[in-house]
Amino acid sequence: MKRILSGIQPTNTLNLGNYLGAIKNWVPMQKTHECFLMIADLHALTNPPESEVLRRNTREVAATYIACGIDPEYAAIFVQSHITPHAELSWLLSTITSMGWLNRMTQFKDKAGKDKEAANLGLYAYPVLMAADILLYQATHVPVGEDQKQHLELARDIAMAFNRKYGEFFTVPDPAILGEASRVMSLRDGSKKMSKSDPSDMSRINLTDDADTISSKIKKATSDSELLPDNLAALENRAEARNLINIYAALSDRSAESVVQEFAGQGFGKFKPALAELCVEKLSPISTRLHALMQDTAALDALLAKGAERARMVADKTLREAKQRMGLLLS
Ligand code: AMP
Ligand code: TRP
Repeated sequence: MKRILSGIQPTNTLNLGNYLGAIKNWVPMQKTHECFLMIADLHALTNPPESEVLRRNTREVAATYIACGIDPEYAAIFVQSHITPHAELSWLLSTITSMGWLNRMTQFKDKAGKDKEAANLGLYAYPVLMAADILLYQATHVPVGEDQKQHLELARDIAMAFNRKYGEFFTVPDPAILGEASRVMSLRDGSKKMSKSDPSDMSRINLTDDADTISSKIKKATSDSELLPDNLAALENRAEARNLINIYAALSDRSAESVVQEFAGQGFGKFKPALAELCVEKLSPISTRLHALMQDTAALDALLAKGAERARMVADKTLREAKQRMGLLLS
């Protein structure tokens, strides 16, 4: 059976970008793939949050997965730091990853800011830990948003480098960048991606937002004063318009082309209320379930313990064999 591994960092509340770029695509895969879905708390430490906040967010991400339709009976939902082989394999893989490869990572350049010397080593080595996450489970597919593409290419390079040096062992994973909104843009600025860390809350729809908030954020989203054309190609230089069309398409499981055709000749005065209604219909039940799940942290913790048990069985076995191939004496 094909297997997926994916994860999200527990930094701030998840938003529409995380939903459309990642979680929504995992839901149908539960029936066709063996699913390992983690909460990447070790990755979140690269931008150190307050301890209590990190603990709360870790549970909130688990609750979000479930609220969005992930069923813990099918998928193993677990916390990355509960499975110690992630950190261990990351070290092993770091010995076959060249600095040149890491120096090309654009996310490091963006996140490290101007003072690269002050950036922490974890931020630099982040993609090696991500490769370890994926390779530990011998994942065949990794469903993520467009922004993770470069990290996945690196994970493939690391798997191939290991296989060349120590014999065929790791599955070389394929990226699964799916849907009409694999890169959701900010509601304020169509040139920036929707992000958990944008200082403006109006730039994103959080999965905890209530119906009124969702609706007002869509209605206030930056757009333009032109009418919608009858084909997508004509939206090439209208980033905000294109983004709102993509969101509509992804939420309604339609192609962006068919959405633009439906609204051809209309302005945002007509399109935005339709989009706001669709967002409320699809997202407010998620927010309601999420709030309810967060009331019972003991149940969430129990579920994470079960997920960890399933993950550990696979991870321990892979790590052991990787160590043996690398010449480490097994205990
Ligand atoms: P992160 O928030 O960086 O932990 O991302 C978790 C997942 O959400 C990854 O699969 C990302 O590619 C995806 N993601 C984050 N932001 C966006 C966005 N604006 N559009 C589409 N996917 C996104
Ligand atoms: N780096 C990913 C992100 O920020 C999160 C992540 C960590 C991940 N490990 C992963 C995604 C393994 C897919 C597979 O979006």
